[in-house]
Amino acid sequence: MFAKSILITGSNRGIGLELVKLLVDQCEHLFAACRSPQSATELNVFAAEKKNVVVLKLDVTDQSTIDSAKETVQTTVGKKGLNCLINNAGMADWGETSMEKVTAEVLRKIYEVNTIGPAMVIKTFLPLIKQASSQAADDSMSTDRASILNMSSQFGSIADNAMGKSHSYRMSKTALNMLTKNLSIELKPDRILAINLHPGWVQTEIGGEGALITPKKSAEKMLELAAKFTEKDNAMFYSWDGKVFPW
Ligand SMILES: NC(=O)c1ccc[n+]([C@@H]2O[C@H](COP(=O)([O-])OP(=O)(O)OC[C@H]3O[C@@H](n4cnc5c(N)ncnc54)[C@H](OP(=O)(O)O)[C@@H]3O)[C@@H](O)[C@H]2O)c1
Repeated sequence: MFAKSILITGSNRGIGLELVKLLVDQCEHLFAACRSPQSATELNVFAAEKKNVVVLKLDVTDQSTIDSAKETVQTTVGKKGLNCLINNAGMADWGETSMEKVTAEVLRKIYEVNTIGPAMVIKTFLPLIKQASSQAADDSMSTDRASILNMSSQFGSIADNAMGKSHSYRMSKTALNMLTKNLSIELKPDRILAINLHPGWVQTEIGGEGALITPKKSAEKMLELAAKFTEKDNAMFYSWDGKVFPW
């Protein structure tokens, strides 16, 4: 089992949808969150055939939807809490090919989705994740016990940046990286893992048509990796193929 209960944001398409498909048989409860469930056709068709999938409305920029998603999750999992939160939802603007093209509006929008969004989702669900962690019989850390997996990007790595450009996306993911690192320190006493993932260059709307790998391959490899996470992986930044990324 990957984890008893799992919540994935941005699960209606791209990498998030693949994560749902791959995790459905590896958990008791799978909460597939997306901002427009009414138009999430592929997810709804898939969920209709699976008893353990709950499709939830959750816009990471709208606290009222995060709160009501939490209520549903809490009612479903009860005292067992939420074991694994995958902050997958994200957004990019590739128009910033030079500093002249940067606007405050785009910087704010991307930061809100990629950085403030995950932070507020984590804050809201943290009591449920702590609850799950407190149920464990021993002190060991694992994805199944309690974990926060943040979908970052190679573009968020300062050390790896050789191309420049894409200011809003890079800045937002770098800030997300700091959040992951901070959480790995703050939540260690609660035995909750906080880990960054880079999914590779993936054929989705964000990745574009020229991307190298399919969402299925990316999701499969990341889950293979994440299934084995222990305390030594806390605060790590992993690429989909298992390589460690520099911050
Ligand atoms: N593809 C790549 O090459 C690549 C590389 C590095 C990192 N990543 C990261 O991987 C993650 C998944 O991206 P993807 O490649 O699968 O892209 P995608 O196909 O464009 O999917 C993005 C997902 O995020 C959701 N989303 C956007 N804004 C949201 C909001 N305010 N609230 C909730 N959900 C929201 C989208 O929902 P809607 O359908 O409602 O818009 C969609 O489900 C992102 O965090 C991205 O930054 C991707």
